[in-house]
Amino acid sequence: MRKILVTGGAGFIGSNFVQMVLSEHPDNLIVNLDKLTYAGNLKNLAEFMEHPNHKFIKGDICDGPLVEKLIDEYQLDTIINFAAESHVDRSITEPKLFIETNVTGTLALLEAARDKNLERFIQISTDEVYGSLGSEGKFTEQTPVSPNSPYSACKAGADHLVQAFGRTWGVRYNITRCSNNYGPYQFPEKLIPLMINNALNDKELPVYGDGLYVRDWLYVNDHCTAVWQVLQKAPPGEIYNIGGCNEKANLEVINQILDRLGKPKSLIKYVADRPGHDRRYAIDARKIITELEWRPVVSFEEGIIKTIDWYVQNQPWLDNVVSGEYQKYYESMYKDR
Ligand code: NAD
Ligand code: DAU
Repeated sequence: MRKILVTGGAGFIGSNFVQMVLSEHPDNLIVNLDKLTYAGNLKNLAEFMEHPNHKFIKGDICDGPLVEKLIDEYQLDTIINFAAESHVDRSITEPKLFIETNVTGTLALLEAARDKNLERFIQISTDEVYGSLGSEGKFTEQTPVSPNSPYSACKAGADHLVQAFGRTWGVRYNITRCSNNYGPYQFPEKLIPLMINNALNDKELPVYGDGLYVRDWLYVNDHCTAVWQVLQKAPPGEIYNIGGCNEKANLEVINQILDRLGKPKSLIKYVADRPGHDRRYAIDARKIITELEWRPVVSFEEGIIKTIDWYVQNQPWLDNVVSGEYQKYYESMYKDR
């Protein structure tokens, strides 16, 4: 049994992870520390708020004394750091906020892990730290880190700090670098839920550039099982890429969404490209597959249908997150694009 500080557990991947652990491994304790930014949503955890092995704490990962207090109070042995500012476009308009949470926040957690001699620190990183690929090849764990956006630069900085704490103070860590996730509870600023929401409302679908940028999609539950496997089996000091071999051009994904929802292709609108836009990501996940016996189980064809149908069936969840602040965000990001 583990006693885990999960940070960012009210966000997209974090809340799916908390749900998975409490459903499938319910003897583990989860203390869930989340600042509840625009991306954090307790509705994601509605069925689990009263679970005896889930304690939700509203707070900031930059708050070192709070983190240390939680470790002492609940006798925690592990930190899994999902908390982050996670959207590339926002990092282009507000990079400083990304340094604060993604770098300074990770530093505060590392200091607590070191000072309290925790058994394990797992940093949830991203394939974006490797930069961009041309039409050939995949990222391996040996690919040099070469981030291009303020978001990925901060994530890479955090990864370096994690490794430095391992080397300097013996903090037992793992770093995971996953490709693009999709599935229930993703905030509709990211490609798939944004396009689903717009299509459902017969709004234009804003495609950046030529729409032929490629992402390697992984259903969120498969990411969660990979992180669980790392926690159970990985030796300290190892980095693992996580991905499902599901490379798709953005337009292909958008067309699948339109087809499922029975909406016309005329909704597609080509808009100005993202500055510094990475052309292609693709993950070589052989290390985690062979060394930790992890396998993704949801194909893209199955996962995209499940995801679209989830948003259709959970209209109140979607209506709630797109009200208020989201409208301002959308206008500022897309109005004159
Ligand atoms: P998200 O934006 O949906 O959720 C982030 C969560 O962190 C929110 O609940 C937010 O309230 C919380 N948070 C933000 N700042 C905080 C702070 N200072 N203190 C405490 N909590 C804070 O993000 P996501 O898509 O679920 O991503 C989770 C992690 O996985 C991130 O570290 C991200 O870099 C990484 N990742 C994401 C993807 C993806 O496709 N979404 C892929 C690979 C890796
Ligand atoms: O690769 C992992 C990363 O994937 C994570 O680390 C990030 O947290 C996550 O946000 C995601 O980053 P991307 O930039 O790849 O995801 P996003 O959904 O923003 O964009 C996916 C692709 O779709 C990208 O090529 C940009 C394009 N796009 C996106 C939006 C929001 C559009 O064409 N139009 C849009 O409106």
